[in-house]
Amino acid sequence: MSSPLPSPDRRAVLVTGGARRLGAAVCEAFARADWRVWCQYRASGAEAQALAQRLGAEGLDVRAVAADITTEAGRRALFGQVAAEAPLACVVNNASAFEPDTGADFDNGAALRQIGVNLVAPLDLARLLGAQPGTHECSAIHVLDQKVYNLNPDYFSYTVSKLALERAVALQAQSLAPRVRVCGVAPGILYPSGPQDEANFALASRANLLRRPIDPADVARACVFLAETPSVTGTTLSVDNGQHLVPLPRDIMFVVDELLKHPPSP
Ligand SMILES: NC(=O)c1ccc[n+]([C@@H]2O[C@H](COP(=O)([O-])OP(=O)(O)OC[C@H]3O[C@@H](n4cnc5c(N)ncnc54)[C@H](OP(=O)(O)O)[C@@H]3O)[C@@H](O)[C@H]2O)c1
Repeated sequence: MSSPLPSPDRRAVLVTGGARRLGAAVCEAFARADWRVWCQYRASGAEAQALAQRLGAEGLDVRAVAADITTEAGRRALFGQVAAEAPLACVVNNASAFEPDTGADFDNGAALRQIGVNLVAPLDLARLLGAQPGTHECSAIHVLDQKVYNLNPDYFSYTVSKLALERAVALQAQSLAPRVRVCGVAPGILYPSGPQDEANFALASRANLLRRPIDPADVARACVFLAETPSVTGTTLSVDNGQHLVPLPRDIMFVVDELLKHPPSP
């Protein structure tokens, strides 16, 4: 039997890709909920340190940690470092590679790279949670994308990696129970990505049932909710203003581009 979530003064979470954008919002939400936060970064060291400093000035416990999550050795070294002080109670698998391709033109290397970051790393980090010494309950939260419920052919390798991760939420919950709960969070569009400019993003961010941008803090709060709710495992929470219920033939950024080229007459 696993024991309950550690008391607030002992709870520690690892957020991958935590320095910027959604990752930073997730770090902040956990820190404000009294978790010790390990903010993993690859290239964004300055942002990770600044986040840790900004929240640290308020008395919150956020620690920036450099690691390569794309290799098994890198993931083990990361775990060894962060779990040495106190075992982790949660991992939020937020880091993700998002590269344009289609099922017709994908590059093998780029596809494998995205599958490595977006699928294999989250699955392995969740498994490492359960292999920690002790019996305390843990949770792994895989950050997905509304795209998994709303298919179109753009960003093919990325979508394939997130589809597999979405299916793995239930599979891994079965595999790692009862020690580790495994949950998903599926956001809609939150930030401009790739070639998207501000005008495109302003329109795209409203192409959902609620016709307003999604607040990244809502996604971050959903992660904290899942981490702190012991009855939930094997399921995914959509936090997307209903974007997954608005089917489009292409990725939203390309459809909005068409709208900008041919604006509807008043
Ligand atoms: N942005 C959106 O609108 C949106 C919509 C739906 C779902 N999501 C999901 O939400 C999560 C966060 O999205 P985001 O846009 O905030 O993420 P992001 O900025 O694209 O990436 C987050 C971090 O992932 C790390 N990363 C990227 N490529 C990597 C690689 N090849 N190897 C190792 N680390 C890598 C980077 O860390 P360093 O900077 O430290 O290198 C990066 O800052 C992702 O899982 C994404 O799929 C995002």
